[in-house]
Amino acid sequence: MTTLEKKLKLFPPTFQWGVASSAYQVEGAVTEDGKGPSIWDIFSHTPGKTSQGENGDIACDHYHRYSEDLSLMKNLGVTHYRFSVSWPRIFPDGRQRMNVKGLGFYGRMVDTLLSHNITPIITLYHWDLPLALQEQGGWQNRDTAHAFADYAETMVSALGDRVKQWITHNEPWCTAYLGHFSGEHAPGIKNAQAAVDAAHYVLLSHALSTMAMRATRSDAKIGITLNLSPVYPKDHSQENQKAAGLQDVFNNRWFLDPLFKGEYPDELPTIFGVNPPDIAGDMEIIRQPLDFLGINYYSAQVIAAPVRDQAPWPVVHITSKDRVTAMGWPVIPEGLSKLLVDLSTHYQDIPPFIITENGAAYEDVVEDGKIHDTERILYLSDHIAAVADAMAQDVNIQGYYLWSFMDNFEWALGYSKRFGIVHVNYSTQERTLKDSFLWYRHLIKKALS
Ligand code: FCB
Repeated sequence: MTTLEKKLKLFPPTFQWGVASSAYQVEGAVTEDGKGPSIWDIFSHTPGKTSQGENGDIACDHYHRYSEDLSLMKNLGVTHYRFSVSWPRIFPDGRQRMNVKGLGFYGRMVDTLLSHNITPIITLYHWDLPLALQEQGGWQNRDTAHAFADYAETMVSALGDRVKQWITHNEPWCTAYLGHFSGEHAPGIKNAQAAVDAAHYVLLSHALSTMAMRATRSDAKIGITLNLSPVYPKDHSQENQKAAGLQDVFNNRWFLDPLFKGEYPDELPTIFGVNPPDIAGDMEIIRQPLDFLGINYYSAQVIAAPVRDQAPWPVVHITSKDRVTAMGWPVIPEGLSKLLVDLSTHYQDIPPFIITENGAAYEDVVEDGKIHDTERILYLSDHIAAVADAMAQDVNIQGYYLWSFMDNFEWALGYSKRFGIVHVNYSTQERTLKDSFLWYRHLIKKALS
C-alpha cells in the first residue's frame, strides 16, 4: 500500500472527489444559440495577446460534446464536477435580456450529471465578462456588481432546485491583477488604480450576489474561490522576512482580509501606490458569512528582498533542485498543508475549505495511444497526501477538485499547456485517457470503499 493509500481513511465518506473546468476554456461555440461576446472573445482575437494567437472559439467543443465528456466523467467515478457558467450565454448584453437557450444548455448539463450520480458545483464567474459590461467600465464600474447579483439570482432561481453549491468568483486576484495591472489577461488593462478598484467591485459583487442568492434559496451553499500561495522567506534576514510579508499581502491577504476580517491590509497602498475605494458600508457588506472557501493551489513561493532598481516586486527564487512543472511552477506539496493549517488558525471566522483546483501541466507524450504521465501522478498524489496531512491536524476540508478534467485553452498560453487527465487532440477532438485518469479512478474507488 502506498503512503497515500494509508492516508485515505482520513477522508470522510461525504468528501467531494471532483474534477474542474471552466466555460471559456472548454466550451467553444462562442457565437452559438444567442451567446453574446465576452471580454475573452475579444482579447484572444487581439494580435499578440495569446500564444500563437490561439483562442477559445472551438476549444474542446464541449458545448456539442458534453454528453460524451460527462460519460467519461462517470467512468472516472468522481462524485462532483465543478464547471462555470458563461455569463454572456445567459445575458448576452450583460443584463436584462435573458437568453433561454443559454440557460437550457446548463440545465441539460446539470440533468445529465445528476443522471450519472455526479453532483454539480457551479462557478458563476470564471473570467468571461460580457463585453457589453466592459464597454461600461467592467469591474471598474460599481454597477457591474449589481448586474452580477442579478445574474446570480437568475441562475439560482433556474437551477437551485438541483444545484446546491455555488462559487461566486474564481480567483479574483487574476481578474484584478492579471486583467487590470499586468494586462496579461482580458480586458488587458495596465493600471494600478484600475486593479485595486476592480478588486473592490469584484468583492462587492461577490457579497451582493451571495445575499441575492440566499434570499432566493435559503438552501444554497455559497463560497468564493481564491488562488492562494504561501510565502516562505528565503532566510531569516529581516529584509527577506519583510519582503515575504509583502508578498503574502499581494498573493493572499489582498482578498482574504476583506472577506474574513472586513478590512484591507494596511500594506496594500505600499504595494500598489494607490488606495482602494473608501466607500462607507462596503467592507461590512463584503464580509458575508460563507458556507465554504474554495482554494486553488498550485505552488508556493520562496521570496527574497528585491535587488534595488531591479524589480518592483520581491523576487521568487527557485533553486535548481526544485521539481518544476511545465508552467515553471515549483512543486511544493507541503505548501498546501502549511497554507490550510495557517489559514484555519489565522482567520477566526473562516468557513470549511474545498480545494477547488489543484493539478499540473507537463509535456505529455502520446505513445501508441497511451500517455504515461507519471510526473502528473506524482504531483497529484503528493498534493492529495498534503490535504490528508492538514486534515490530520484538524483542518476541515470538504473536497478536492483536480484541475483539470481534460486538456483545454490555458488563457494567454493558448493550447500549449496541458493540465488534463484526459488528453484532447485539438485537430480531431479525440479524447484519450491518460494514466493519471486511471490512477485517479483507482484512488477514488479506494477512498470510497
Ligand atoms: C487557474 C485558473 C484555471 C486554470 C489553472 C491552470 O488559475 O483558475 O482556469 O487556468 O489556473
